[in-house]
Amino acid sequence: MVSFGAVYFAARAFCPNAAAEANLTTFDFTDVPTLDTERLRLRPISRADHDDWLAVWHSAGVLDYLIDFDGAPQDEVVREIIDWAERITCEKSGIRWAIALKPADRMIGSCGFHLYQRRHRRAEIGYELHSDYWRRGIMTEATQAVLQFCFDRLGVHRLEADVVEGNAASAALLRKVGFTLEGVWRERVFKRGAFQSLWQFGLLAPEYRARQKAADRA
Ligand SMILES: CC(C)(COP(=O)(O)OP(=O)(O)OC[C@H]1O[C@@H](n2cnc3c(N)ncnc32)[C@H](O)[C@@H]1OP(=O)(O)O)[C@@H](O)C(=O)NCCC(=O)NCCS
Repeated sequence: MVSFGAVYFAARAFCPNAAAEANLTTFDFTDVPTLDTERLRLRPISRADHDDWLAVWHSAGVLDYLIDFDGAPQDEVVREIIDWAERITCEKSGIRWAIALKPADRMIGSCGFHLYQRRHRRAEIGYELHSDYWRRGIMTEATQAVLQFCFDRLGVHRLEADVVEGNAASAALLRKVGFTLEGVWRERVFKRGAFQSLWQFGLLAPEYRARQKAADRA
């Protein structure tokens, strides 16, 4: 079990008006928090990350199972996605963090949640990592920080993840951090000229807490 370091709030405020809207959860999306883990820093994404994010997507195999990309994204698409990352926070529907391997600050991947619905206390998670860093437990560590944030700070009851059928790495990661495969959405997305099925994974707050307790006891 990763022991997480201090969680603190970065000074950057995406949405000056958001502070005015009181939120019943303990988190109001006014600032993007920076999350420190043993090896990683999950910090707000900025325009300065443009080239590093492009390098992540252009690294071998990263796009193979990403739903929204048919070809390698170019500058304009990266700008749009950075805009999206800012927008979901302003809309209070998600946070996408840049993942940096400490002590460096350089972005080697991203992770976060989106489609957050306060009424249903539900959100979906997503992530991608530069392939030079695969299979070192990095996304396990990053995802655990996102789960901790979603369940403990945001008060989410259910987290979901949609995975293109065949994405063994993503499925293994999700299982490792406690998700259950709940079913298959048959031919739900059109990608690379064909309909693709999606594996639907889910993790509920009580399941997360039971795992945390078991890990603490071990
Ligand atoms: C999915 C992804 C983020 C995993 O990141 P990672 O840092 O390599 O994952 P981890 O090292 O933390 O591994 C987590 C678990 O998955 C397993 N795993 C990782 N890659 C795997 C692969 N290609 N095949 C099978 N299992 C794999 C690991 O062995 C580990 O399980 P274990 O500890 O029980 O052995 C990475 O492969 C990636 O960026 N893929 C492309 C983008 C993508 O598909 N995003 C998800 C869209 S739903």
